[in-house]
Amino acid sequence: SIEAKKERIKEIKQQLGNRLFIPGHHYQRDEVIEFADATGDSLQLAQLSKTNRDAEYIVFCGVHFMAETADMLTTDNQHVILPDLKAGCSMADMADIAQTEHAWGELQKQFGDTILPLTYVNSTAAIKAFCGRNDGATVTSSNAKAMVQWAFTQKQRLLFLPDQHLGRNTAYDLGIKLDEMAVWDPIARELVCEGPIEQVKVILWKGHCSVHEKFTVGQIEELRKNSPNTTIIVHPECTFDVVQAADLNGSTHYIIETIKNARPGSSWAIGTEMNLVNRLAQQHPDKNIFSLNSTMCPCLTMNRIDLDHLLWSLEEIIEGRLHFPITVDEQTTLEGNLALQRMLDRPS
Ligand code: 13P
Ligand code: SF4
Repeated sequence: SIEAKKERIKEIKQQLGNRLFIPGHHYQRDEVIEFADATGDSLQLAQLSKTNRDAEYIVFCGVHFMAETADMLTTDNQHVILPDLKAGCSMADMADIAQTEHAWGELQKQFGDTILPLTYVNSTAAIKAFCGRNDGATVTSSNAKAMVQWAFTQKQRLLFLPDQHLGRNTAYDLGIKLDEMAVWDPIARELVCEGPIEQVKVILWKGHCSVHEKFTVGQIEELRKNSPNTTIIVHPECTFDVVQAADLNGSTHYIIETIKNARPGSSWAIGTEMNLVNRLAQQHPDKNIFSLNSTMCPCLTMNRIDLDHLLWSLEEIIEGRLHFPITVDEQTTLEGNLALQRMLDRPS
């Protein structure tokens, strides 16, 4: 039964004590968050991985790129485990290293040595290493603005991987015009510019989050008509038009803090992952909180980690086996850490 499984997880957690650490991303299921030793957005979880030196086993309840990041930031005798190897991220899969190296070559032909690469942490370790060895850095949704500002102190232009929406929304907020941005299409292998090519300051990789792209301007218009007192807050992985039409936009952390500080009785439509929206609604019964998309937007890969997978990984540890260990090779770790460290060193 579910209760028996939960009891067993508690027992194992007690048995392993400080040797075990379970970080949980805010998009995880309630049944998993219940057992997380810490919850956070991707920046907070990366920071925690860096500071936790006690845990021998880090059972990462999140997606593959987050577990890779944790492995890069922890020491050799700490094991990072992802309870289900299929918990990937469709956005991270939209930029592979061969495509990125090819794009880089083409962009260098066009713009010379004037570009700095920045990658959203939602990317493979190989892409982080690529940014590390080319003087670039990682960013998260919580520090994207600060990191883009930093990038422009280093070079004239930047290549933003792999989420075009976070890149476009952040650059626009900083005063960069749409016709100063271009999109690199890794499938067509071409640069699509809105304005003159010499004017380009930001090159956006043509990737997106399939969860956040499900929020539309139509939903916002509908809500404005039917519920004019509702405030609309969305994650910057949503499209430019959605972010412009919403009242507020910001990272997972920003959304949580805004709802926490909202007035009792206020009404909020949120454009982000469903598990987080439902949890916020439960935690704030004095406020009216719902998803901007009434058909709901679960991240299917985040949802792959459930009670059964968590219990199974823990039982395997007790049996002396690791399922599934996430290990990033030494060279990639070295270069990837350069990119991560340039981010962690800067205030967001
Ligand atoms: P943050 O945790 O940085 O807000 O990222 C959202 C996300 O899509 C995680 O996969
Ligand atoms: Fe990836 Fe989007 Fe899921 Fe985040 S919500 S893990 S970006 S697919």
